[in-house]
Amino acid sequence: MRYGPIIGAGALFSLACSWAALVMAPQLQLGALAPAPIPNTSDVHPALRPGLAAQGAEVYRSLGCYQCHTRQVRQDALLFGARLNDVGSNANTINLELPGSGKTNLVNLDLLIALAKARPDLGIAKVTVPPPLLADTNVVAALGQFTANLTLLKHADDKLDVVRPTSGPTVNDVVGNRPAEIFVKVAPETAESVVKLLTDSGAKAELVICNLGPDIERGWGARRSVARDFVNDTPVLLGSLRVGPDLASIGMRAPEKFAAPWKFAGTNTAAEVEHHLLVHLYNPRLLAPASTCPSAAYLFDKQKPEVRFAGEPLALPGKDAPVFPKHNARALVAYLLTQRTDVGLLEAPTPAVAKAAAPAKP
Ligand code: HEC
Repeated sequence: MRYGPIIGAGALFSLACSWAALVMAPQLQLGALAPAPIPNTSDVHPALRPGLAAQGAEVYRSLGCYQCHTRQVRQDALLFGARLNDVGSNANTINLELPGSGKTNLVNLDLLIALAKARPDLGIAKVTVPPPLLADTNVVAALGQFTANLTLLKHADDKLDVVRPTSGPTVNDVVGNRPAEIFVKVAPETAESVVKLLTDSGAKAELVICNLGPDIERGWGARRSVARDFVNDTPVLLGSLRVGPDLASIGMRAPEKFAAPWKFAGTNTAAEVEHHLLVHLYNPRLLAPASTCPSAAYLFDKQKPEVRFAGEPLALPGKDAPVFPKHNARALVAYLLTQRTDVGLLEAPTPAVAKAAAPAKP
């Protein structure tokens, strides 16, 4: 046993290393995670659950919903885009005739030059300078600068009446319909340089975030789920099997606009979603005939219950008589309504956060 102490010390050392890597490091990284304040409001994300929703979390747990549903939106990539919000006012403007419409539109020439640099694939359907403007030396000078900068117009026969056939959108279309997505899904440097080009020309542009991945495309949320979304949960019922759709932002989806599955949307009212969720809980087949989601009809009374506060009856689609949701049904729905990933976080931004991070206007 001459080496006993050395072996003992070695074992202690390897145990200490495992503890540091498996317990201490995660604790240092995530232990102090707290709800994040939402800019310009006094709210935080995730919000503390009101009593009913906290009870609903227990109902969700006891009914085993997490066995078929996950609560984590996954995301593959984060890319950027450039959005034109306003053409801005600039002395260097010219009247462009919108093709076919006969309407004229005062357009910022610098912006056109910027757009042509940023998106050479955009053509100009037709530029017509009305005769009275031709006498204006400022306009002629501006137009000269404009055409000189637009290399793509080099081959145009007549600089005052340029036709560049293109199947895609024209600069006129872009300038006429705002906000216009000048770029989507590009690297941050590209989007930033385009935003700078546009803002330098006097227009108002912003950097936008494009979260990408199959879950986002399915409409399951605006961004990926991160550890902070779960700081109020004990235990965290993430779920690992996706027999049914992910429920991470079920509180934000708009069932009335889509048949199953419900899509993420910011336009629905809480009352509409609450009604749909209650109907879904009572009998999922009433909303999606082929649904395999188990019915939780035992959370509803068929007759008006003999209690002082029975609550409002739930109207059902079809010929079924209204039913009375029990307390647990309302609690479960209150909990599902707190499931939302619409708030942008620093570690997982949504377009709203990108707005604040857009480069300052010169
Ligand atoms: C046996 C697996 C299973 C269990 C357990 C289960 N579900 Fe489902 N759920 C599904 C399937 C499959 C769908 C997709 C079909 C549909 O839309 O009804 C679904 C759909 C849903 C939807 C609609 C979401 C959407 O985007 O269309 C909600 C809400 C939902 N379930 C809630 C629950 C709740 C709450 C529980 C616990 C009481 C639960 N589910 C338990 C399988 C399950």
